[in-house]
Amino acid sequence: MTLLEATDLRRHYKVRAGRGPFGAKATLRAVDGVSLKIEAGRTLGLVGESGCGKSTTGKLVLGLIAATAGTVRYAGNDMPPTGSAAWRALRPRMQMVYQDPLGALDRRLPVGVQIMEPLAIHGQASPAERRERAAEVMTAVGLQRHQFDRYPHELSGGQRQRVVLARALMTEPDLLVCDEPISALDVSIQAQVVNLLLDLQDRLGIAYLFISHDLRVVRQVSHEVAVMYLGRIVEQGEAESLFAQPTHPYTRALVSAIPVLGPRRERLLLQGDPPNPVDVPSGCAFHTRCPFAVATCRAEAPVLQPTADGRQVACHRADEPALQVAA
Ligand SMILES: Nc1ncnc2c1ncn2[C@@H]1O[C@H](COP(=O)(O)OP(=O)(O)OP(=O)(O)O)[C@@H](O)[C@H]1O
Ligand SMILES: [Mg+2]
Repeated sequence: MTLLEATDLRRHYKVRAGRGPFGAKATLRAVDGVSLKIEAGRTLGLVGESGCGKSTTGKLVLGLIAATAGTVRYAGNDMPPTGSAAWRALRPRMQMVYQDPLGALDRRLPVGVQIMEPLAIHGQASPAERRERAAEVMTAVGLQRHQFDRYPHELSGGQRQRVVLARALMTEPDLLVCDEPISALDVSIQAQVVNLLLDLQDRLGIAYLFISHDLRVVRQVSHEVAVMYLGRIVEQGEAESLFAQPTHPYTRALVSAIPVLGPRRERLLLQGDPPNPVDVPSGCAFHTRCPFAVATCRAEAPVLQPTADGRQVACHRADEPALQVAA
C-alpha cells in the first residue's frame, strides 16, 4: 500500500543574488519537481550532495513547510494545508527525526518529560497513561527506565538519539522522516542506531524516508532509493539494483565513491562542487560535471524515463550501456 505519494513538489526561495541590501533578487529552486512514493512499512532512501534539497523535500512531504507547487497524498487522501486543524490532527501519524540529537532536545528538561511531550501536545492520554507509554517506548529503543529523569547532557550521543526516536514513536506514527539520523554519531554507535531503526520497522511496520549522504548506510536500510541533484531526482528505483547497476552518471559517481573491499568495477570521480543553485546550468543540470556530456545535454533537460531494469533515470544517454570513462 502506498502511504505517501508526492507529485511534482516544488519549493522556491527568493534570495539576494547581488551584494548588499539592495542587491537583485534571484530564485533559488531548492526542490524543483520531485515526485516520490513511500510504501507502508518500507524505506525510501534519499541521497545526494549537500544542498541538493534533501531536507527541504523531507519537510515538504510532511507539510512542515508549504510547497510552492505540487501535491502530497497521505494514506489515500490529500495532505491538508500546512497548519490547518486537519493537518495538525494528522501530525501524530508522521514524525521527523533530525540529525543532531542534542540540538533536538531541551537541555533544561529531563528526557522522560521530553519523550512524553508529543502525547501532551496532541492532547492524548492522561498523565499516567503518558508515563506508561513513555516507559514502553523507552524499552523499545533500548533505554532504561532509570534514564527517565536524566538530562540530555548526562547521556551519550547514542542514548540521546534513542531519546529522540522514543519521542517520535510516542504517537505510534506510520512514517518517520529521518534526516541524517546517524551522521552526528560516532561510527561505533551508528551501527547500533541503524539496527534499532531496522528492528523498529520489523516490529512496528513503520515506513521511513531515510535522508543521508552516506550511501553505505542508505544501501543497508533502503528498499527504494531516490538520487537528487540540484533539486531534482535524477535516478530512482529498487535499492539493490540501483547500487548494483547505477545508470545515471551522477549515481555511478556516488556509488563508485563508496569504499569497498576488493577490486573496483569502475572509478568515476566527481569533478568540482555542485553549481550555484540560483544559477542552475542549462539543459541537464549535471552536464558541467558529467564526463559523458554531449551537445544535447547542454541544450535539453532530460526527464525521468523507465529503464530496462525497472528504474527511472533522467539522462539523455541512459540507454547507451557501453558508456565508459576514458582511461
Ligand atoms: N529558508 C531558506 N531560504 C533560502 N534558501 C534555502 C532555505 N532553506 C534551504 N535553502 C536552500 O535550498 C537548497 C537545499 O537545501 P536543503 O537543506 O534541502 O539541502 P540538503 O540536501 O538537505 O543539504 P545537506 O546535505 O547539507 O543537509 C540549498 O541551496 C539551501 O541553501
Ligand atoms: Mg539537509
